Amino acid sequence: MPRSYLLKDHHEAFGRASCPLHRSRARLHRIAGTIESMYGLINIAIKDLVTEDFGEEAWHRILSRAGLEGTEFILMDQYEDSVTYDLVGAAAEELDVPASQILQSFGAYWTKYTAVKGYGPLLDSAGKTFPEFLQNLDLMHTRVGTMFPDFVPPSFECHNMTEHSLDLHYISEREGLEDLVIGLLHGLAERFELTLEIIQDESKSEQTGASIFHLKWT
Ligand code: HEM
Repeated sequence: MPRSYLLKDHHEAFGRASCPLHRSRARLHRIAGTIESMYGLINIAIKDLVTEDFGEEAWHRILSRAGLEGTEFILMDQYEDSVTYDLVGAAAEELDVPASQILQSFGAYWTKYTAVKGYGPLLDSAGKTFPEFLQNLDLMHTRVGTMFPDFVPPSFECHNMTEHSLDLHYISEREGLEDLVIGLLHGLAERFELTLEIIQDESKSEQTGASIFHLKWT
């Protein structure tokens, strides 16, 4: 998946005719727990973010640009990851902002959204401080998995911890969601009322394939 999610790039990468996402418009299909699907909760949150900031009309234009006209996402249904990537790409085109920015905004939004959509206790249980929370992210997602049985979460590891810094390793089956992680981290920093600086390594860890973020907070 190219770093940019613009649909035209996506088609250049795959070639439209053989593009696995566009062979049919039947992409919305509830698919049973593959590593390439996400629960509807994610797409609903994207919808809520867009509608809150830009209105219903903008959302309908984005849906239609992504080839998903009239779609109402269902929280507990699973949708191919490509649906989510296409929504991000279409939102970037429609709102004329880079996809990276959409992902970052969505990440920050997610930390507040989940808190008010019934997952607050899960967030609370992850930790009382920023570093504690980061160390417990996998445990928190394991708990999320009790509600979403076919859930395929990412994994996070904390390394080189000091009082005000650590290296966060992000490991995922999915490509290109580093900007989402950056947004999530800024959202968490806000939750803990911290000022956070994030420097992302250019390359991934050779051993684990993890993306590495150097974090410093005050
Ligand atoms: C209680 C709050 C949370 C809930 C309910 C939740 C739930 C989810 C769900 C449903 C997915 C889609 C995966 C799937 O359906 O298979 C997901 C993905 C993801 N979550 Fe969480 N999550 C929460 C908090 C967080 C936080 C605080 C972070 C901060 C780092 C985070 C990081 C991610 C990332 C990066 C992904 C993208 C998938 C990937 O990288 O492979 N989540 N989460």
